[in-house]
Amino acid sequence: MKGIVFTEFIEHASSAFGEDEIEDLIDECDLPSGGAYTAVGTYDFQEMVTLVTALSKQTGVSVDDLIHGFGVYLGGSFRDRFRDFFDQQASLFDFLDSVENHIHVEVRKLYANAELPSLKMVSRGKNEAVLRYRSKRCLAQLASGLIQSAANHFDDHVEVLMDHAKDEFGTFADIKVQRQT
Ligand code: HEM
Repeated sequence: MKGIVFTEFIEHASSAFGEDEIEDLIDECDLPSGGAYTAVGTYDFQEMVTLVTALSKQTGVSVDDLIHGFGVYLGGSFRDRFRDFFDQQASLFDFLDSVENHIHVEVRKLYANAELPSLKMVSRGKNEAVLRYRSKRCLAQLASGLIQSAANHFDDHVEVLMDHAKDEFGTFADIKVQRQT
């Protein structure tokens, strides 16, 4: 997993739960990398699992809620760093439709070894769209947070619902985005 995801996570967790608390947490986790992340590095995804699990134990906030909250934060940071991807699209659903075929394609050019999910828009109406999330990393809640943050950018009010299922290709999550009119 890319260092930028780790550095953003530490930044977010530090402002939410306290800098000293997060420093102690990193020490206690005894991570193979030592926990000194840089945005340009690449680290084992397992370290993120260790950190989020430990943070959940320490704070009593569920892993799902922690990952979702981090997704909202990360979305804001992506908006600042990669503003063009937002400005190129006219609406939230256009933006979400562009993640698979444009944004993550460009991300892969920037970071050759990026580990990205598949995010296909499997249905789209005026007020409802469904994104099908597939990944070994089970970060559908991160996607849900990123969607929520993109909705804020496009001034759209949405409800994001999650449906986990399985087919011949493996497990997936259908993320339903409903515009509240
Ligand atoms: C400007 C917009 C975006 C940028 C620049 C971006 C970039 C990235 C980057 C750099 C990673 C990390 C790859 C790695 O660790 O190797 C990532 C992962 C991910 N992205 Fe995006 N992304 C964007 C928008 C979105 C949106 C809107 C969604 C959801 C609809 C999304 C869903 C995810 C998820 C869930 C992951 C975690 C990896 C996984 O689940 O397998 N991204 N993205």
